[in-house]
Amino acid sequence: MKNTVLTLLQQKQNGDKITMLTAYDCTTAAIIDECGVNCILVGDSLGMVMLGYENTLPVTMEDMVRHTAAVSRGAKNAFIVADMPFMSYQVSIEQAVENAGRLVKEGGANAVKLEGGAEVAGQIRAIVNASIPVVAHLGLTPQSVNVFGGFKVQGKSLEKAVKLVKDALLIQEAGACAVVLEGIPARLAEIITEKLTIPTIGIGAGNACDGQVLVYQDMLGLTRGATPKFVKRYAEIGEAMKQGINTYISETKSGEFPSQEYTYTVDEQVIKELLGEEG
Ligand code: KIV
Repeated sequence: MKNTVLTLLQQKQNGDKITMLTAYDCTTAAIIDECGVNCILVGDSLGMVMLGYENTLPVTMEDMVRHTAAVSRGAKNAFIVADMPFMSYQVSIEQAVENAGRLVKEGGANAVKLEGGAEVAGQIRAIVNASIPVVAHLGLTPQSVNVFGGFKVQGKSLEKAVKLVKDALLIQEAGACAVVLEGIPARLAEIITEKLTIPTIGIGAGNACDGQVLVYQDMLGLTRGATPKFVKRYAEIGEAMKQGINTYISETKSGEFPSQEYTYTVDEQVIKELLGEEG
C-alpha cells in the first residue's frame, strides 16, 4: 500500500511509529521499499555520502532532481521526500515554489523538505498552496552549519528551546505535513511531539518522536570513519563488501575466476572452421 500524507498522520494518531531511511539511487530505494519502510528521504546528505563533499552546502537542484528521479523509479510504496538544497528556497518564495515543483514534476517526489522555522514559513505556505506537501526540518539543520559553528546539538538553552517550540508550531500552522527534528535533546523533542498534531520524525532526538530517520550508509555500516552518537549500526555491509572484493581480487589473480560456470561456450565445429578460414 502506498504511504501518503494521510497514512503518516494516521500512524501518529495510532501511535504506530513511522520509519524513514535515506536513499539516493534506484537499487537501494527498491531494497528499502521492499522492506516496507514508510518514507524514503532523498536527503541533501547525498552531498556528503554520495559525492564526497564536507557538508551539504554544494548540493545543487540538478543533483537533487537526478537522484530523486532515480529513487522514484526504484520505490513503489514509500512516501518519497526530496530535500530542497541550500539556496534553492531562501532567495525568494517564487523560486522556492518553482524548485519544489521541479522535484515533484521531474523527480517524482511526493513531498519536499526544507530547513528552518519562522524564516521559511512563507515558503512553506506558498509551496503547500501549490499542492506540494512540505516536510519541515528543525534543530541541527545541516545547511546552517556555518551559523552553528559545526554540527552541534541544538535547543539546550531555555531561549533556544522556546524558539524551537515556537518554530514547530509556526511551521505546522504554515501547512507542513510533518517535521524532522534533528540533534535536539530527547525531552524537548517529546514536548514538541506532544504539542503538534503533525508527525515528528527524529534523528538524534530520542524515542518519543512519532518516527525515526537515519542515513542508510550510517545504519548499515557503509560510512567510513566516525558516526554521530545517535547512529546505531544494524549491519556491517562495508566489511561484507571488503570481504567479497578481496576474494574477487585473489580469485582473478589466481585464474580461479571465471570458472566454467561463469563462461559462455561455442560449438567446437565453429572454432575449427574459424581457425581453418584464418589459416
Ligand atoms: O539530508 C538528510 O539526509 C537529512 C536527514 C539527516 C534528516 O536531512
